[in-house]
Amino acid sequence: MAVYKVVEAEDDILRKNAKEVTKIDRSIFKLLDNMKDTMYEYKGVGLAAPQIGVSKRVITIDVGNGLIELINPTVVEVEGSATEAEGCLSIPGVVGDVPRPTKVTVRGLDRNGQEVEYNAVEYLARAFQHEIDHLNGILFIDKAVKLRKD
Ligand code: CO
Repeated sequence: MAVYKVVEAEDDILRKNAKEVTKIDRSIFKLLDNMKDTMYEYKGVGLAAPQIGVSKRVITIDVGNGLIELINPTVVEVEGSATEAEGCLSIPGVVGDVPRPTKVTVRGLDRNGQEVEYNAVEYLARAFQHEIDHLNGILFIDKAVKLRKD
C-alpha cells in the first residue's frame, strides 16, 4: 500500500495538461495502485494522477459502486445540465456549485489496454468530468458559480 500526499491547488502540476499514456507498463500499474490507495485513504470519490504529482492522463473513481480505473479518458458525448455541489481533495474545505452535463459517455483504456466505454449519469457523470478536467489543468473552482467554506 502506498498512500501519497494529495497535492493542493497552489501546485503548478494541477494547472498542466497531463501527458497521454503511450505504453501501459508496470509503472502505470503502480500508479493506478497508488492512486487507488490514496483515493480510499482520503475518502475521495475520484482522483487524477496529477493530484499525486504525476502528470499523466490517468484517473480513478469510486462513487460507491466499485473501482473504475481509466487511462487516457475522453468525454465523447454529453447531455443535459445541472448545477450541483462539488469538492476536491486538492482544495480542502471548499465546496462549490458547478454546472455540468448530467449524462456523459466516456472512453478510455483499462489497465489491460482494452478500450472501455462508460455511459454515466448524475453523480458518476459529474465525477468523470471533474477528474478529466484535472487532466486538462482545470479545477472545479474555475467552473463554480458559487463557492463556500465546507
Ligand atoms: Co478534484
